[in-house]
Parts: sequence; structure tokens; C-alpha cells
Amino acid sequence: MKRGKITVIGSINMDLVVKVDVHPKAGELVTGKGLEYIPGGKGANQSIAAALSADAEVALIGCVGEDAHGTALLENLRAKHVNIDKVVVDAKAPTGLAQISVDRHGQNMIIYNSGANFRLLPEHIEMEERKIAESDMVITQLEIPLATVERIAQICNKHGVPLLLNPCPAMMLSDELLRRVSFLVPNEFEGAALCGINPPENIEDAIRITELLETKTPGSVLMTIGASGVLIVTEHGIKHMPAYKVDAVDATAAGDTFIGAFAGRYVNGASLEEAAQFATAAAAITVSRLGAQVSIPTRVEVEQFLREHPQD
Ligand SMILES: Nc1ncnc2c1ncn2[C@@H]1O[C@H](COP(=O)(O)OP(=O)(O)O)[C@@H](O)[C@H]1O
Ligand SMILES: [Mg+2]
Repeated sequence: MKRGKITVIGSINMDLVVKVDVHPKAGELVTGKGLEYIPGGKGANQSIAAALSADAEVALIGCVGEDAHGTALLENLRAKHVNIDKVVVDAKAPTGLAQISVDRHGQNMIIYNSGANFRLLPEHIEMEERKIAESDMVITQLEIPLATVERIAQICNKHGVPLLLNPCPAMMLSDELLRRVSFLVPNEFEGAALCGINPPENIEDAIRITELLETKTPGSVLMTIGASGVLIVTEHGIKHMPAYKVDAVDATAAGDTFIGAFAGRYVNGASLEEAAQFATAAAAITVSRLGAQVSIPTRVEVEQFLREHPQD
């Protein structure tokens, strides 16, 4: 397989992860079971998934503070084979921080402070136009300023570089931005928010949302629906690719693993459906482990999982 080039432009955070039995309600205190500092951020997670799970050549453009978290995060990315030469270090803001609690069912709750991520500006993207133009795919999310995402989309379109947008956190987006996207990959909540409607309650609702999304973008739509898998719009209609059955320990970074593994496998030469199947396996492994980046499997682990779980 060839090694395609991916540029990820997005967030880099430290995750503070605490395990709890049950999440607290407002005004309530619950005692956690241990505290861990785990590198996170959607940009960083998706970069690592593309590099580690799919073995693509990955560079990350993002912004961290000039602090200990920033230094640790960049070292970690380098160790996971992500090129960080284009990451901006900003002395005026703290590195992004996410406080995550995970309950006994593996469901997570997150409070997020964007910090330096919101200091990644359109001008930083303009400086990296050549890097973008040389990419086989660019991946971005919405944990950086929207004006920056819009500039990314314009530059990708100018050079004919496919743009994968993971529209997270959930929000409405302009038709103009959605028209510039080649791969739109929301989860069910983000997909519903893009349509301005309530999250789906069943698979039929989810299919309707996917159909609506397909009218908003010329690109391919892949809507991930957690333990139910992913809905993919193909030439032959909507395909439902079920998730693998695993013991869910922690769903953090399931979507990020899916996106990075999908994009990496795709630029390395797989078809859209092959790449989605590979990504579904990679995400299933992530769900079966505690933590975000630390859960993301290597290509060898995904290939072994696929051999052990043949499709019916
Ligand atoms: N409980 C689970 N068991 C197996 N696979 C899962 C589970 N939850 C998520 N996945 C896999 O991860 C992908 C992304 O998960 P999803 O929850 O939709 O994204 P996000 O993390 O963005 O909310 C799904 O399409 C599925 O393949
Ligand atoms: Mg989910």
C-alpha cells in the first residue's frame, strides 16, 4: 500500500480523565476513582489515528500554549509519528484543556476550555498554503475558530485537495462551507444539529438525517451512530455498516479513531467502503479501552482484529 499525505488542522488538548460510578447532577459531588492526564483534542487524536491505525503520512497544524501541557503534548505527538513542525506555540494563551468523566457504562461527560486552540487564525493557514496544496486530504473540525475553518475550505478548494470536515462540536454551518466539503463525517448529534432538528431516536430518523445532509454537500456523507455503526451515502443509496460488538469501556475518541483511520486508509488507496470498514474496526478497539489517544490501535492491531472478526 502507498502512504498518502494527510494534513490535519485542529485542536490539541490535555484531557483530565476521572472514572466515576455515576456522573454528578448539578450541585452534587461524586468521588472519582483516580485521575489521569491523557493527551487529547480532536485534531491530535485524528492525526494519531491516521498515522498509527492507518499508517498514513500525517502533519498536524494547531496551536498550543507555551506551557508544560503544550510541551508534553507535542512530545507525545512526535512519538506517535505525527509531524508537528507546523504547530504554532502561543505565549499568550494556555494549552487547551478537557475535563472528562467516564461512568461505569463507558459513557463520557466533557467540559472543555479551548485556550490556545482559538488562537489558530486564518493567517496561520495562509502561511501553510503550500503544505495544504501538497496533501492528499485535509481533515478539520470545529474546535478552532470558524473563520479559520472557512479559510481552510477555500484553500483546499483552490488546490483541489479533498477536505474532510468533522463538524464537532455540534452547530449549524453555512451552505457555502458545506458545499466546499468532500467528506462530511458527523456523529448523530452533530448531523442533527447541521439540519437544525432533534437528534435521531431510531435508525429510521438517522437515515432521514443522512439523506438531508446529502442534499447539503456535494461530498460523501458518513454519519457515525455510536454502537449502531455508521450510515454511508453511496451511489446505490444509504448503506448501514454495523459496529462490531465489543465490551464498551470508554467511548472517548471513538469518532476520532473512526475519522483518522478512515482518512488514512482512504489516502493509502482503499475504496470508501473498505476504508469505512477498517475505521469501524479501529473504533471498536478504541471503545474497548480506557482513554483517548492511548486507546487508538496500531495498523497491526486493526488488521488482526479484522482477521478475528470476519464480516458475515
Ligand atoms: N459501543 C460501541 N461498540 C462498538 N463500536 C462503537 C461503539 N461506539 C462507537 N463505536 C464505533 O465508533 C464509531 C464512532 O462512534 P460515535 O459515538 O458515533 O462517534 P463520537 O465519538 O464522535 O460520538 C462508530 O461509528 C462505531 O463504528
Ligand atoms: Mg457518540
